[in-house]
Amino acid sequence: MPRKGNYGVDYDDYDDYDYDYDYDVEDQVEAPEPKKETSSDKVRVWGCSICTYDNDESMTACDICGVMRSSVLGKFKDDKETAPFKFDFPSPDDMVSNGIRSSKIGSKANLINSRSQKTSAGLSETVKSSDKSSAPMPKGKQGNMEDSNHLMIGALQLSCKSSDVSSASISKGRPGVNDGNPKKNGVADTQSSDETSDSTSSSMLKGKDKSVGNASTSINGGKSLGPTSNLNDVSLSDKSGNSNKASARRSKPSAQYQPNDWMLPDKSENALTQLNLAIVGHVDSGKSTLSGRLLHLSGRITQKEMHKYEKEAKLQGKGSFAYAWALDESPEERERGITMTVAVAYFDSKKYHVVVLDSPGHKDFVPNMISGATQADAAILVIDASIGGFEAGMDSKGQTKEHARLIRSFGVDQIIVAVNKMDSVQYSKDRFDLIGTQLGTFLRSCGFKDSLVSWIPLSAVENQNLVAAPSDVCLSSWYQGSCLLDAIDSLQPPKRDFSKPLLMPICDVVKSSSQGPVSACGKLEAGALRSGLKVLVMPSGDVGTIRSLERDSQICAVARAGDNVTVSLQGIDGSNVMAGGVLCHPDYPVAVAKHFELKVLVLDFLTIPIVIGSQLEFHIHHAKEAARVVKIISVLDPKTGKVSKKAPRCLTSKQSAIIEVALDGTVCAEEFTNSRALGRAFLRTLGKTVAVGIVTRIIEDQE
Ligand code: GTP
Ligand code: MG
Repeated sequence: MPRKGNYGVDYDDYDDYDYDYDYDVEDQVEAPEPKKETSSDKVRVWGCSICTYDNDESMTACDICGVMRSSVLGKFKDDKETAPFKFDFPSPDDMVSNGIRSSKIGSKANLINSRSQKTSAGLSETVKSSDKSSAPMPKGKQGNMEDSNHLMIGALQLSCKSSDVSSASISKGRPGVNDGNPKKNGVADTQSSDETSDSTSSSMLKGKDKSVGNASTSINGGKSLGPTSNLNDVSLSDKSGNSNKASARRSKPSAQYQPNDWMLPDKSENALTQLNLAIVGHVDSGKSTLSGRLLHLSGRITQKEMHKYEKEAKLQGKGSFAYAWALDESPEERERGITMTVAVAYFDSKKYHVVVLDSPGHKDFVPNMISGATQADAAILVIDASIGGFEAGMDSKGQTKEHARLIRSFGVDQIIVAVNKMDSVQYSKDRFDLIGTQLGTFLRSCGFKDSLVSWIPLSAVENQNLVAAPSDVCLSSWYQGSCLLDAIDSLQPPKRDFSKPLLMPICDVVKSSSQGPVSACGKLEAGALRSGLKVLVMPSGDVGTIRSLERDSQICAVARAGDNVTVSLQGIDGSNVMAGGVLCHPDYPVAVAKHFELKVLVLDFLTIPIVIGSQLEFHIHHAKEAARVVKIISVLDPKTGKVSKKAPRCLTSKQSAIIEVALDGTVCAEEFTNSRALGRAFLRTLGKTVAVGIVTRIIEDQE
């Protein structure tokens, strides 16, 4: 079940939703005055302008809905209409291949801040565990809300509620804290001392981090890579020259890490490979309907459940959203007919255990899309083929281009373009070809290779070309290619970091009670987990023990890189586990910092140039923080990656550059060369993604 801490938020502007995306800061709803402190107040508070929640004075953004405090917005009053959006520059991955010029590295561990603790705690009150025994298809929700007129920061969260077992066999939400006993499940509750040892305590860890914090920075002697270098060839030690500092931060150098046998995939297991598949695209293109259809056709939604959805949708006068209701489960989403938070569901194809990440298409929920889709191994870009529908998505105010751009920036290079709603254009080949031509040019400019893009004409509503060849002669007369399911099976299996130390960014935290164990949900980006293992929870630095693991609502013995799991932890203060944090190997802690050097690509969404002092939202895996540009080091030639200008005054759209940003709070991050998933960053402002980039250096702040 989606986290609905933001229930009651009144998005009046959605009620008469008509594809008019005019964004005018002058029209911003005036935020109410911060609540006045009375003498009886023990703690100073400010009222959120959106959800009215009384936040602690120390917080810069609402603890419940993530909306930034109104005072921060004044800085952007002069912004004008968004410029037309064109992409004709390489992707961040391509930029990396053009050379990385890190010069220093450092890290500074920081304890969890009180705001984050509160967020986790608040979440626990609204979350209940789902009933696993009768839930063949679990579905979670990821994300939180952003008002179009407000900047948003705050940890992304996902939450669950118990499903109504009697009426629906789809488990709504990720499984909550479970009662699984590792021993009962035949899972060892101990591990070799090589993985972790009992002697690893949080106090030890903090001691290590402290010593790191005092370490001095070092100059990087890294060479830039040639324009044709492959990202896979980029390695930390010899190319960035950062290894000394990295070693200082970590208790052991990563190179020394030796995975145990159980951590590596067992070929004899014969399990399907998990494929995290993001469903992205412009609002109303049919992403949820398509996802719901696939779940139904694969048997994850029963006929009985489908009838129930149809009946309920019709009763609310939204009959056409019946399939979408399988994914859009909150009252707000159903009432408004839009997805707000990323839904997680599962189905099996011949080759893959597919994790469906159904993203919101509306522009106000791009931060949620970012947080969910950062887990993607591949993506389905859903296009509305209807007359006007495709054009709206491709417009500068549409989300087709922004989503495609973001997906590429997440490192996804394989996409399926699902040209949906073909029924509305009588399955016209001409329309399909026109969409292919226009969108194809754009996708190439984003860095997608033609050979890794499949184009599938289909209709989710009429079930044409989803899991079988089309039955409608209007389509089958000219299309003999793959159906969508076959296209999914044709995707290349993703490469996984099985042999690296554990890294699992936390996208959600689930607690059944304030005292009980806490569960962290997310995708393992590197390494492996099993019951009984000790893990380090960052940024708090606490060490907990894995009580049990769940994948797709089923208890599992082992989870490896690529798996999307719920990890039940014990022996840990639940308030120290938070969305945006990272589970890692106790001997290989992730960096925690608030000052970064980034290599960025400025997008056409930028309306006012980026200058020193520009305030932006910094997004990295599931974490978000308010950030300020503190240095613009150089502008790079996008083709060669070489410095074309040093210390420019400002950055404008389409430029790639090296900049330094300082965050209001700390986030867990890695340099891109260490971990791609934890080293990709996105800069947003005024509801638009204005730059995508990678962390080239973690800068140690001088005490
Ligand atoms: P957001 O999540 O809010 O971005 O929307 P979405 O992309 O998930 O779209 P959703 O599935 O909610 O569908 C939006 C509308 O498009 C609904 O009325 C669907 O019935 C309709 N729709 C979806 N697929 C098709 C299709 O193949 N043909 C036609 N004609 N309509 C469709
Ligand atoms: Mg949707």
